[in-house]
Amino acid sequence: MTILVHSNSELRTALNGLSNNICLVPTMGALHEGHASLIKLAKKYVGSTGCVIVSDFVNPKQFGVNEDFEKYPRNLDSDLIVAQNAGANILWAPDVKDVYPGQWPLEVETDLRFEILEGRNRPGHFSAVIEVVTRLFDIVQPNAAVFGEKDFQQLILIKEMANKRNPKIGIIAGPTRRDKDELALSSRNVYLSSDQRNAAALIPQALKLAIKESKNGANVEMLKSIVKNKLKESDLIEIDYVEILGNDLNAIGANENARILIAVKLGDTRLIDNMSVQLKGNL
Ligand code: PAJ
Repeated sequence: MTILVHSNSELRTALNGLSNNICLVPTMGALHEGHASLIKLAKKYVGSTGCVIVSDFVNPKQFGVNEDFEKYPRNLDSDLIVAQNAGANILWAPDVKDVYPGQWPLEVETDLRFEILEGRNRPGHFSAVIEVVTRLFDIVQPNAAVFGEKDFQQLILIKEMANKRNPKIGIIAGPTRRDKDELALSSRNVYLSSDQRNAAALIPQALKLAIKESKNGANVEMLKSIVKNKLKESDLIEIDYVEILGNDLNAIGANENARILIAVKLGDTRLIDNMSVQLKGNL
C-alpha cells in the first residue's frame, strides 16, 4: 500500500513508526516506467523493512519564462498507481508553500557547473534544481536518494552538491529506461506529434552509431559529426548540442569512459539523451 500525503506534517505523521532507513526518489510526477525503475531501485536499496518516499512536485522555479510549467503533464491518480505498483511506501505531493515556506533561510551550493550543457540554454534552471533538491533533502532527511542517468548533468551536479552539503546521503544512479525503439522515456514525449515521435528515434540511433564508430577508432570530432549527420536525417530535428565529455563532465582524457550528450528540439519540445562511450585513445 502506498500512502498519499501532501503537507510536511502529514509526511512526518506517515513516517512515524516506519523504518528510519529512508530512500527518496524526487520526481515532478507524470510518472512513467523510467520513474518506476528508480522506485524499484530505491526499494532494493532499503530492503523490505526500509521506506521509499517518492516526491511528486512540479517545481515552478526550475522552469524558464518560455518553458512548459503551465502545460507540464499532471496526474496524481495515475502517479499513485505507478508508485504503488513499483513498491513505494509514500507518495508525497507537497504544495509550493510546503517546499518554499516564507521564512526559511537556506544555504544552497552555488559553486557548481550550472552554466555548461543544459545550463547554456536554460539560465537559472540548475540553481533552481539544486535548491529544490536541497529543500527536499532537508525536509525528508533521507539516507539515500535515487536519480536517473537520463538527466546526466542533473545527476552529476546533485552528486557534487550532496558531497559538499549532505555527505551522509548516498546518491544512487539509475540507468535510462527506453521505449521499444530505444527513445528514452520522458514525461515530455507526450508533446510529440506522431511524425515528431518517429523522428525522435534518430536520437538513440545516433548515440549508438557513435558508440559503434568509436570502436572503429573514430575520434571525438568525428564522433560528433557522425551523431549530427544521423540527426540531420530528419528535418523535424533541430540540434541544440552534441557534446562528448568525461563521466564527471570534465574534459575527456585518452582511454576514458566518456559520455555523449545530446539536446535537440522537435517543434517546441526539447529532448535530451546521453550514452556512455569508451574512447580507446582516439581523442
Ligand atoms: P523528473 O523529470 O520527473 O525526473 C525524476 C527522475 O526520474 C530524475 O532523476 C530523472 O533523471 C529520472 N528519469 C526521467 N526519465 C527517466 C528514464 N527514462 N529512465 C530512468 N530515469 C528517468 O528530474 C526531475 O524530475 C526534477 O528536476 C527533480 C530532480 C525532481 C527536481 O525538481
